[in-house]
Amino acid sequence: MKIGIIGTGYVGLVTGVMLSRKGHNIKSIDLNPKIVEKLQSGICTIHESGLEKHLGDSLKESKISFSSDYKDLVCSDAIFICVGTPGNEDGSANLGYVYSAISSVIEICDESTLIIIKSTVPPTSAVKFQEFIRQKGKKHLVTSSPEFLREGSAVFDFENPDRIVCGITDEYQKEIFNKIYYYIDIKKTPIIFTDTTTSEMIKYSSNSFLSVKLSFINEMANLCEKIGANIDDLSKGMGMDKRIGSLFLNAGPGYGGSCFPKDTNALEYLASKNEIETLVLSSSIKSNLSRYSMMRDKIMSFVLSGSTITALGMAFKAGTDDVRDSPAVNIIKLLVQENFMVQCCDVAGNQNFAGLNLPNCTVHDNPYEAMHQSECIVIFTEWDEFKNLDYKKASSIVKNKLIIDLRNLLDYEKVTEAGFKIVNIGKNLNK
Ligand code: UDX
Repeated sequence: MKIGIIGTGYVGLVTGVMLSRKGHNIKSIDLNPKIVEKLQSGICTIHESGLEKHLGDSLKESKISFSSDYKDLVCSDAIFICVGTPGNEDGSANLGYVYSAISSVIEICDESTLIIIKSTVPPTSAVKFQEFIRQKGKKHLVTSSPEFLREGSAVFDFENPDRIVCGITDEYQKEIFNKIYYYIDIKKTPIIFTDTTTSEMIKYSSNSFLSVKLSFINEMANLCEKIGANIDDLSKGMGMDKRIGSLFLNAGPGYGGSCFPKDTNALEYLASKNEIETLVLSSSIKSNLSRYSMMRDKIMSFVLSGSTITALGMAFKAGTDDVRDSPAVNIIKLLVQENFMVQCCDVAGNQNFAGLNLPNCTVHDNPYEAMHQSECIVIFTEWDEFKNLDYKKASSIVKNKLIIDLRNLLDYEKVTEAGFKIVNIGKNLNK
């Protein structure tokens, strides 16, 4: 099929490239000509393992092309809208980019072109978009097909979806979706057809439930520390219950990224607008926000404010260069307010972090460089590269041999043999 993709961010680029690998002809639009130029020359503008190879293969086979001109979408059978929906101050989602994309599409494309919203939009948005189109005197139809890709494993997640969700308004649209997703083995991966609002709710409720699960295990980590239990064994023991599941039970410095915080706030906002109380969702949001200052206090209970510390990891999780709403960044901001000097090093997020221009922060490409004069090393992001550092070498560099491991990433024996005292979350190994 001829498919248009609007937006080449973490969702749009993965969706466009991977659909082109399935044989579809993809026209991908981004209004930033620099991004278009890079992508058209085969340079991946996001950090997603395996994506650049697929991009190169599809460019070679002319299965994908990039441009800033909406007119290139004119013959599309369907168009995925994958633009950003950033959070507003009040927690609501800003849908401005979606409305502007829809306005361009309905001016240029035939009314038979199916509009598919893949951007994360609050439930009932597709209904509002449809009304917007009707008021413009057009007949294009709006459907929904939310993404469930995790940054850092988006190619894997595209190839191994748990389910495909399609929000439709008319039975004939099933045929179009079945043609787009022809490659899906429905014995392995169910395709759910529902209405657009329920489709949007599946996305928001899934992300919000995962956030609640994380806030819960992080609170249990606090209790484990107090009573001398072990959070790693607790997670293992809980996760063996199939009803709970072992994923998303790793305690950490709090959850972050461009999705969970934004999506939970938007769902809470939508519920409050509909006078629905969300005690569980709201308290998990509060719990996560309070964790950042809790981690600051934990660090300050070992290191005097005004000291120099080393932050290993600024990305919101390993495998990505994305620092948006990263727990690491939120905690580093709090530490900087306490006059800490922070020497920072990430595996992929250095450039994005440097762009934040935080005071008292120095970015290093080499983790050992970031350790000089350091009173302690704080592990914020669970990169394997940090797990496998030479801690004997590290102990000859840092001023004070203390590691605060907020991801319980490091091998306790290896690090203590190198002469370090290690502080974890959710367990008191130093007892
Ligand atoms: C999330 C959803 O997982 C994905 O389905 C959706 O499409 C987009 O939002 P993403 O935000 O990329 O994906 O990252 P995810 O892997 O979900 O992690 C989110 C946050 O939770 C990160 O800060 C991560 O460090 C944290 N996390 C995750 C934990 O602290 N512990 C865990 O066990 C898992």
